[in-house]
Amino acid sequence: MTITDQNTTRTSDTAVPIVDLLDERWSPRSYDVTATLSDEQLTALLEAARWAPSAANLQPRRFIVGRRGTPTFATILANLMGFNTVWAGNAAALVVAVAETTTEEGDVRRWAEYDLGAAMSALSVQAHAEGLHTHQMGGIEVDGLRAAFDLPERLVPVTVTAIGVVDSADKLPEKLAERETLPRTRLPIDELVIARD
Ligand SMILES: Cc1cc2nc3c(=O)[nH]c(=O)nc-3n(C[C@H](O)[C@H](O)[C@H](O)COP(=O)(O)O)c2cc1C
Repeated sequence: MTITDQNTTRTSDTAVPIVDLLDERWSPRSYDVTATLSDEQLTALLEAARWAPSAANLQPRRFIVGRRGTPTFATILANLMGFNTVWAGNAAALVVAVAETTTEEGDVRRWAEYDLGAAMSALSVQAHAEGLHTHQMGGIEVDGLRAAFDLPERLVPVTVTAIGVVDSADKLPEKLAERETLPRTRLPIDELVIARD
């Protein structure tokens, strides 16, 4: 791992080289409160999500997008939990990732959350290619988001992702600043892989 550029670059510790965008992606909590997301950038992110693979190409994934300063952003921010509310407000945009868990007729979309995750992963990589960073959050008020955006039962908010331009760790409150610079770690490959020949 290397920490450079005022703690805003934090590559991964890999056994062999991987694609730069994946190597360099990480999830900061310190965002530049002056940075904005252009229409073109936002569309590129949504295109990346749209073109992610999908089981039977059913695409059971929906998105609620709010850029900072808009009522949609404020509503999403108000539905974050705990310490997420402390830092996510400086992001340039917040995106609610919504899984379509059943059809309108009630048939279960078994891979909805998997599909949604694939889309958000693609969005994150595209964001990094645009010079942005992302931070996904599971700490969200699911019922609050559902009510605020009038979502039926079958549309389930799964995560909110903050998107923006990374800022230095020392802009965060002390405890979060400490976490921002902790080494990035992962389980070893041997622990992840059940069988490998
Ligand atoms: C589904 C999901 C939920 C997460 N929820 C939160 C959260 O509520 N708050 C937070 O600060 N980070 C959250 N994270 C970010 C993880 O903590 C982070 O990705 C992990 O520590 C690895 O760090 P890295 O992305 O920088 O490699 C979440 C990540 C994922 C994928």
